[in-house]
Amino acid sequence: MIVIKNKSALVKMRQAGALLSPIIEKACKEIALPGVSTAHIDAWIEKELARVDMSSKAKGYKGYRHVSCISVNDVVVHGVPSKEMILKKGDVVTIDVCASWKGYCADMARCFIVGGVQEKKASELISVAQSALDIGIEKMVPGNHLSDISAAIQQEVEHYGFGVVRDFAGHGIGKRMHEEPEVVNYGKPGKGPVLLPGMVFALEPMITLGDYKIEIDRDGWTARTVDRSLTAHVEDTVVITEQGPQILTRIVE
Ligand code: MF3
Ligand code: CO
Repeated sequence: MIVIKNKSALVKMRQAGALLSPIIEKACKEIALPGVSTAHIDAWIEKELARVDMSSKAKGYKGYRHVSCISVNDVVVHGVPSKEMILKKGDVVTIDVCASWKGYCADMARCFIVGGVQEKKASELISVAQSALDIGIEKMVPGNHLSDISAAIQQEVEHYGFGVVRDFAGHGIGKRMHEEPEVVNYGKPGKGPVLLPGMVFALEPMITLGDYKIEIDRDGWTARTVDRSLTAHVEDTVVITEQGPQILTRIVE
């Protein structure tokens, strides 16, 4: 069942997004500098979440011990923060955080190049992940079908010759980080449930420079491309309204 959020739930979800987005934007721009470890970034985010009274949804989830996933280069998602993982100029990094405020979640991820653009292909990959997310969001209007989102994302990514990861997907979100429905990033349009106002989804295209096949490291989390090609992942939490989609995780106060 897809939960339709009422007004008071949406007020809390908007606030969750408004509190989380500036933290993630700042982590990407000011904290994730060359020479910094991903564990340091995670610790900084943990402190910021506490400051705004948000609870991490990742820490404690299936035994996960961090508030963020920080995925570097060939790691597409679920990169585990580590003191040994030191960022260097040119690394393609995604910071992904899901946290709740008064019981309601916001989930978002941003992707960037450490030290700014070094390689054209890496910045193109990130731009296409971003445009695929935006095009998916545009489909979040009442009356569309769920798979209209999926098809739009896949079409955008493949138009540029990049791969779409199949093993992970976007999702409904609310009181829980993962609710129904699963929002896959590929498929044919016109299928699945009809979209209604009050549905909230976290869309998250995960894309690769090479083949889309991924494997999980022995830590049970780190998901990287089998061919070790570069990846990009971005995510926003979005509510469907009568007027169209409203992005909750791009509110920077
Ligand atoms: N934010 C991720 C998502 O979009 C979830 C990572 S939480 C973890 O689903 F615990 F699995 F790391
Ligand atoms: Co998510």
